[in-house]
Amino acid sequence: MFATKRLTNEILLELLQATGREQVELHQYAREVREKYYGNELFLRSVIELSNVCSCNCLYCGMRRDNHILDRKRLFFDDVKEVIDEIHRLGIRTLMLQSGEDKAYPLDELCRIIAYARDKGLENIILCMGVLDRETYLRLFEAGANKYIMKFETSNPHLYQKIKQNDRLEQRLENIRLLQRIGYKVGSGNICGLPGQTPVDLINDIRCLQELQVDMASVSPFISHQESPFRNDPNASLATTLNLIAIMRIVLQDVLIPSVSALEIIAKGGQLGALNAGANVVTINMTPQVFRDCYKIYDENRHIVSLSFAEQIANAAGMNNSCAQNELKR
Ligand code: 5AD
Repeated sequence: MFATKRLTNEILLELLQATGREQVELHQYAREVREKYYGNELFLRSVIELSNVCSCNCLYCGMRRDNHILDRKRLFFDDVKEVIDEIHRLGIRTLMLQSGEDKAYPLDELCRIIAYARDKGLENIILCMGVLDRETYLRLFEAGANKYIMKFETSNPHLYQKIKQNDRLEQRLENIRLLQRIGYKVGSGNICGLPGQTPVDLINDIRCLQELQVDMASVSPFISHQESPFRNDPNASLATTLNLIAIMRIVLQDVLIPSVSALEIIAKGGQLGALNAGANVVTINMTPQVFRDCYKIYDENRHIVSLSFAEQIANAAGMNNSCAQNELKR
């Protein structure tokens, strides 16, 4: 059914609302597309959260600048060195370093962390630290980082300006293109279920990713956070989020798509649902325990993904979860 039709925006909009048998078929087809490119491989990543200092004030985010009750902390090389050793010992070859948009985080420390991880034999260093200047991106690339995640969150310029407190969507997109020109493999994506977002916006998000020719793409379900202006808005619907992941797989074909931990907050089984809808990456949280509680993007009940949880959902999805799998070949 899917392969024979040209997937117009009208058809994608219908698929977004799919329920029952239609939904089963949508997810099944998304899995077939994934298998065509990746067989049944699941890519395992590790993440370390380095800083929860953030200069942004996004209306949806618990780490926003105006959240004054959050303890702000940074982790440095000495705090994470042993964690990197452990990641290497586990056989995981991809490390994501994530932080708020923290302009004052010392660049030397960051380069040291990246270089150490590369020296250890980790092949993929993914950065997710927001908008930094060109020189900084270049230095980090030279230090050994090779991938960058820069989500646009919504491709609707009006909604973007509202939730990002007057930042411009076009600036964000320009930043994504800059990272691509420097040589990073770039990932982007959206939040599904933002207050004020329409189904048409969601389909446009997928088209925007298509135009950007990203290497990695993600959908995060909106989670209402008590310390944000969206505290009274409902969480995203799991069904819509999973349908959007399936649509993303079908439209973008061979990109890496994570099954994000926030899905498990929406509903137990959410992350497995995403694997069954075409996702092929799971990220294990390796942030040192002392810092974890400070990194609350979503809400009080964070779901911390462990290696055993990742193995469990990989098995349940019939995927081959070998730690040594590295995502460089894409
Ligand atoms: N709901 C869903 N995703 C969120 N993020 C931040 N806050 C929320 C929220 N309330 C996501 C954004 C950001 C990533 C690090 O976390 O997509 O890019």
